[in-house]
Amino acid sequence: MYMKIFPLHELLHVLAWLEGTWITDEPAVGTYPTIKPFNYFDEINITSIGQPLFNYIAQSWHPETGMPMHRETGFLQILPDTKKIALSLINNIGMFTVEQGDLTDDNNTIIDLKSTNILTTDASIPHFATVTETRRVFTRNGDNLEFIFYMATSKTPELTEHLRAKYRKVT
Ligand code: HEM
Ligand SMILES: *[C@@H]1O[C@H](CO)[C@@H](O)[C@H](O)[C@H]1NC(C)=O
Ligand SMILES: *[C@@H]1O[C@H](CO)[C@@H](O)[C@H](O)[C@H]1NC(C)=O
Repeated sequence: MYMKIFPLHELLHVLAWLEGTWITDEPAVGTYPTIKPFNYFDEINITSIGQPLFNYIAQSWHPETGMPMHRETGFLQILPDTKKIALSLINNIGMFTVEQGDLTDDNNTIIDLKSTNILTTDASIPHFATVTETRRVFTRNGDNLEFIFYMATSKTPELTEHLRAKYRKVT
């Protein structure tokens, strides 16, 4: 018996619009007070196999060389009978983040999450400042998804923008 794919779980119906592949058409923008601004492309795959969670994979790459850059993967869950969201991620720079928040508007088009737990491995990048807090806001705008990511670090203690991207739904 192979594993079967089941229809979207009813808990996720309020977020059905999120399922699919989202890609940046224009280069996204990375900034931070301690680094040189940079551009990147990104693709987010959000899939479901019928469990009450979405599988989440985001992969970014250098806009000129195509070289893989930041990658993260995990699960996005909705707490039953609430609009509370939990996004659990592991990334390729040796960090785990638990980011929780809400669907903040009546139409379920804004997902606003803040870190509640951050863990690092011994393999995290030594010359990076330690991330102490994150916030990410996804806003649906028709077939587009706008994304802003903020972080605070040991050297930059206020939540400060790191990423700004606009995605288009491709499937
Ligand atoms: C979403 C989770 C992410 C986290 C938690 C994160 C974290 C960080 C941290 C802590 C730094 C170092 C800042 C400092 O030392 O003051 C950094 C730098 C950087 N990040 Fe991110 N980042 C994320 C996503 C991304 C993405 C999607 C890209 C795009 C490709 C990216 C590209 C970069 C680049 C190019 C630098 C500068 C590296 C250097 O100067 O050596 N990051 N990031
Ligand atoms: C994401 O989805 C696109 C379109 O279906 C596919 O081409 C790509 O391989 C997927 N990426 C990952 C990492 O699954
Ligand atoms: C929700 O969607 C309806 C119909 O598209 C729109 O009229 C209304 O302004 C939206 N409400 C919010 C809070 O975005």
